[in-house]
Amino acid sequence: MADTSPATKRVCFATLLTTDSYVHGALVLAASLRATGSRHEIICLVADGQLSRPALERLAPAFDRIVSVPILDTNDANNLALLGRPDLGSTVTKIGIWALTEYERVAFLDADTLVLDQIDSLLCLDPSAELLPGDVAVGRDYRPNGGMINEGLLAAAPDLGWPDCFNSGVFVAKPSTTTHTRLLALLASKGSFDGGDQGLLNAYFDDWSRADHTRRLPFAYNTTSTSFYTYAPAFAHFADSIKVVHFIGAQKPWKWRRAHDGSLLLGATAATPYDSNASPFAVFIEKWWSVHDAHVSLWSPAKGHFSQEVALSLSEHYGPGSGLGCVAREQPSLNVASLSLSSHQLDDAWKREGNDYASIESRGTSENGWSEFMPAHDFALSPLTSGASSGHSSGIHLNRQSD
Ligand code: GLC
Ligand code: MN
Repeated sequence: MADTSPATKRVCFATLLTTDSYVHGALVLAASLRATGSRHEIICLVADGQLSRPALERLAPAFDRIVSVPILDTNDANNLALLGRPDLGSTVTKIGIWALTEYERVAFLDADTLVLDQIDSLLCLDPSAELLPGDVAVGRDYRPNGGMINEGLLAAAPDLGWPDCFNSGVFVAKPSTTTHTRLLALLASKGSFDGGDQGLLNAYFDDWSRADHTRRLPFAYNTTSTSFYTYAPAFAHFADSIKVVHFIGAQKPWKWRRAHDGSLLLGATAATPYDSNASPFAVFIEKWWSVHDAHVSLWSPAKGHFSQEVALSLSEHYGPGSGLGCVAREQPSLNVASLSLSSHQLDDAWKREGNDYASIESRGTSENGWSEFMPAHDFALSPLTSGASSGHSSGIHLNRQSD
């Protein structure tokens, strides 16, 4: 008889990229998971053939595993226009999560999220485990399948725009071939009511809001940026308990501008320093950049004044400007294996496609691909730069501080 004890079951954190444009988000997310002391595998799903070679080369050492999945797209211009995000049709590729049946449980996080405190409890399979205050016991049901008709969704947090829907930027899934097949069938037959993954998933798991309370993640696990504007007192009251910030909307952290001294400027274009009182949410943009500076950026203080272009480039080899959607012309994006392969077989297939990956393999990465950065339980963010004028950032802590 197979050993089904919790210790032998595989779990992971996962994110998804369908273009180069969120690569820096995924790299910062992985760094933030490690910085907050996660002990679990962190994988990145990449839409087959959609990412550039420099992007894949940056991702490989940052994640424990890169899994290519077939790209899906609703091509639903009408509903995406309603959502105000014409670029989100390919987010339905996310349902590839349910095909990863080698995992008992997957905690999915959008690439535009930042982890501020350890969230390993999402992947805790042991019903007798002691949880810390504020942690959640995912899927400890009172009713079979938590009272839900369809299986596969263990927990999610409400969406602020329509709280009977869950926000699909953070959720815990139980992969299953049946669920995956049914999601594909629903996509093919009815599409998605918002043109992206959230509409599709909420149509499939449409009784989520009436499920057992352990299927509902606290909002602190998916604190979306709009909450700072809709309920500012709650934000002020609960700010210290936020575990995951989700930068929804088109204005992603990597699009915020920074001055030459590294300090944050207001929005994408304005040249004025932001006012943290007027915009408390910008503190989290600063946090995102702090993690980026520490673990992802190709800019460093030794290179002189801050350069956003250098910071966001994907490879020194390709030079500034190679990042954020620019696929180097002589390096076409990679096509990965046939779509009928299992995720096991697709795993790392992109590496085998080319014959010039020796440089990646010889970089001396450790078994889990992360040689330079050791997880720490006590991780405090440093200011964006030592000379940055935004002094308040030095007081921001990422994780369980002893003080
Ligand atoms: C919401 C979700 C995001 C999803 C999008 C489209 O913004 O946070 O994860 O991709 O809706 O459905
Ligand atoms: Mn998102």
